[in-house]
Amino acid sequence: MNNQIKDLETTINHLAKKGKGILAADESIGTITKRFEALGIPSTEDTRRAYREMLMTTPHLSDYVGGVILFEETLNQTTSTGQKFADLLKSNNILAGIKVDKGLIPLLNTKDEQSTQGLDGLDERLKEYKAKGASFAKWRAVYSITENTPSTFAIKMNASGLAQYAAICQANGIVPIVEPEILIDSDHTIERCAEVTEQVLHAVFHALYKHKVKLEYIILKPSMVINGKKCSAKATAEQVGKETVKILRRTVPAAVPTINFLSGGQSCEEATANLNAMNLLPGNPWNLSFSYARALQDYSMKTWKGDSKNVAAAQKIFLQRAHLNSLASTGKYTPALEKETSPA
Ligand code: 13P
Repeated sequence: MNNQIKDLETTINHLAKKGKGILAADESIGTITKRFEALGIPSTEDTRRAYREMLMTTPHLSDYVGGVILFEETLNQTTSTGQKFADLLKSNNILAGIKVDKGLIPLLNTKDEQSTQGLDGLDERLKEYKAKGASFAKWRAVYSITENTPSTFAIKMNASGLAQYAAICQANGIVPIVEPEILIDSDHTIERCAEVTEQVLHAVFHALYKHKVKLEYIILKPSMVINGKKCSAKATAEQVGKETVKILRRTVPAAVPTINFLSGGQSCEEATANLNAMNLLPGNPWNLSFSYARALQDYSMKTWKGDSKNVAAAQKIFLQRAHLNSLASTGKYTPALEKETSPA
């Protein structure tokens, strides 16, 4: 077995453990600034560092979280005690990951569709990130549902980008998180979301196959099959669970060890209940867990408010959310557990 494969195997075994999920803490500076500003928290290099230090020094986090996806800024920062974030995570038995895409650009001559940039120089960057302690990576492609989109062209272009990225990661012994996100901000029905998700995942796995990506060493990070936020018919957790698993069974080979969902703007409670509903269905060949940003962090960020006095309270709420999602990843969550955990 070559060293790259050994690295891939060690990393995937750690991240695909039953009951563990991934914290996405890789918001770009623009995204975290928006979230901070909505709460009146100034966004500076140091407040971003302090916030992420709060999250990552949460006691017992490794009981529920096996990996944290970092933004490059954080990988290069040190905690208040001078420790590199990747070292801090490692000392707590948590793996460091890194967002490696360079964000979205317009896909020219389409109806406002987008593709993801960042392939140029990716091989060199991955070598640097690995040397700094990252063992897995993330690349996000985005699709909007309208009457005419996503187009087959956008679906194909984005699938190709995800597959090229995944192949470069594996050549460096880095496990790729493959993230095709279908946005939920429009008025589409759950049925339309199912149709689009099937097309998108079919194209992604076709491209991964063409690029000879080893499916045993990837993490799929999809959106759930769910109605758009502006749709009048709101799907129940049972429907979301059933439809999501149905589409995954049609499109995702059993060789993929783990599927870790994004939360995509669902409320914390919805994201947890929907994940739980999937895990109540029998016979899934993959681990079904979480890789949430907002649905893990929202209450905690609101409690922290940029003030070091609130660190312990924010960590408590964050750990509770991680715990509930860990329970959901084994089908053991019930909404009654929320009573004990919502923020003050
Ligand atoms: P959300 O869970 O907030 O959707 O974020 C996940 C993520 O990593 C987006 O790329």
